[in-house]
Amino acid sequence: MSILAYRKTYVVALWTLVVACLPASSGLAGEYHGGGQSTCSDCHVMHATKDNVPWIVTEPLLKSAAGETPLCLSCHDGSDSSAPDIVASGTESNPTSVVVTSYTSKFGSSAGYFQSDTTTTHSELGHSLYSVGSATAPLSNTYVKTGPLVCSDCHDPHGSPNYRNLLSDPNPSHPGSVSILTGVNVSETTPVNSTTPNAAAAYDTANIGFYTNNNFRAWCTDCHDSILQELPGGSPAHYMRHPSDAAFSANSHVNVSNWTIGAVGQDTGFGLDVGDGAAGIPRVRFGSATGSAAVAAAGDTVFCLSCHKAHGSKYKAGTVWPLSAVGPDSLSGCQQCHAK
Ligand code: HEC
Ligand code: HEC
Ligand code: HEC
Ligand code: HEC
Ligand code: HEC
Ligand code: HEC
Repeated sequence: MSILAYRKTYVVALWTLVVACLPASSGLAGEYHGGGQSTCSDCHVMHATKDNVPWIVTEPLLKSAAGETPLCLSCHDGSDSSAPDIVASGTESNPTSVVVTSYTSKFGSSAGYFQSDTTTTHSELGHSLYSVGSATAPLSNTYVKTGPLVCSDCHDPHGSPNYRNLLSDPNPSHPGSVSILTGVNVSETTPVNSTTPNAAAAYDTANIGFYTNNNFRAWCTDCHDSILQELPGGSPAHYMRHPSDAAFSANSHVNVSNWTIGAVGQDTGFGLDVGDGAAGIPRVRFGSATGSAAVAAAGDTVFCLSCHKAHGSKYKAGTVWPLSAVGPDSLSGCQQCHAK
């Protein structure tokens, strides 16, 4: 197809999509880049020039010569104060947790962050946005893709009904579709304000609570499908791998009173900060009947995000605390629930 014909096809396609998007927008309330906030020209340019400024475009008319991930990061790297900064100042070999957005929670933003060399270096600190050849998901029988993971492998850039515009079916090779809805599966104390962006408040870890039916286990295991099944082990083991969505109960291996009281102390796992030199960290995330991020109860559940940040962290496998490192915090998360 000639460049001109190609552009025409896209302009038509773009307008068809604008029209098609309109009636759906009310269902996307609250999530940025959906509904009324999907300003097409934030990411697309129609004629490779805007206000007489030329752009080098990539398919599909994306406003970035380097492709999708750098386009998203052009706002989400701290340079746009209205957008949450998801890139920390460090590197894979010398990681930090320093971002421009000023979160009050000691755990920073809910999803965590990539390091500044994320598009040029393979990462073991969470999801890698760089790979030579293809990206193969660990603990998966079905997920492999050509090229590195990109933002739209998990998020719909045009908005979706889900929390954070997550895709309902991130891995088409694995059956099933998962919804994660704000107000049903996840709760926000201060909602995202899509007309006056409030990134520092909205994406703070402490602002977001998870219900016991939060569906994150199902969502993550759409790609990491080999841990979907938590097969029972032979006695005395109850599980073959650490359970997710498992509730605390009186007879379980969980120390419910240590968990609910949450007293700061040497052996309780609870502390004031991660990496402050004293054993203990703030309460890890959990599923609760009320969707509270703060009030712990006996029926709470452990799930993937109790231990992992979705984007990554300063620690191996994107864990919430330095589990694989030597130091006073290494066992803290485990201790909060198990107090051994
Ligand atoms: C022109 C700047 C800009 C670009 C480019 C951009 N974003 Fe955003 N993004 C924002 C702003 C601003 C917010 C909302 C901040 C708020 O409301 O507090 C946001 C919010 C988000 C959210 C949270 C949605 C919610 O409300 O829960 C996601 C997810 C996201 N962006 C993903 C992406 C992806 C993926 C790309 C690339 C395809 C991208 N962004 C490109 C500015 C941008
Ligand atoms: C936050 C950035 C962002 C915004 C805003 C955005 N797009 Fe896109 N768009 C993308 C990316 C990235 C792709 C390629 C990946 C994909 O298809 O999901 C894409 C792909 C497309 C495609 C081709 C693939 C398809 O799904 O048909 C069309 C058409 C399109 N966009 C139209 C629009 C229209 C119309 C708007 C405004 C209502 C819009 N986009 C707003 C980032 C964006
Ligand atoms: C779209 C598919 C997909 C989804 C959804 C997904 N992952 Fe992954 N995950 C991958 C791929 C691919 C890799 C390997 C990336 C790489 O390092 O090249 C990976 C790697 C990981 C790693 C290992 C990181 C390391 O370097 O050691 C962890 C931990 C992880 N994912 C946890 C999660 C959690 C938790 C969720 C849910 C919030 C999730 N994943 C959702 C595809 C996915
Ligand atoms: C493996 C899946 C995955 C990939 C790849 C991914 N995200 Fe996310 N992202 C998530 C999940 C899951 C959440 C919500 C996690 C939470 O609230 O704890 C999230 C949250 C966000 C948020 C809200 C801010 C925050 O810290 O909670 C933004 C903005 C965002 N993602 C943008 C992006 C951009 C831009 C890219 C590409 C550079 C990207 N994401 C790549 C899964 C992914
Ligand atoms: C109780 C804490 C905990 C829970 C809950 C948990 N993980 Fe993990 N996960 C870990 C730890 C610890 C590691 C490995 C750290 C290391 O390398 O030493 C890990 C590693 C991983 C890896 C990388 C494995 C590899 O071989 O590189 C993936 C993928 C992963 N987890 C996905 C998930 C998903 C998906 C869920 C939810 C279904 C989940 N995890 C729940 C603690 C947990
Ligand atoms: C947020 C709470 C929470 C955190 C954090 C947590 N666990 Fe668990 N763990 C549970 C629950 C709930 C069960 C299931 C209890 C039951 O039914 O007996 C469990 C079960 C276990 C079991 C028993 C499995 C069996 O076969 O019965 C072991 C061992 C274990 N966890 C180790 C760990 C380790 C190691 C860590 C830190 C990497 C950790 N847990 C972090 C809540 C947690």
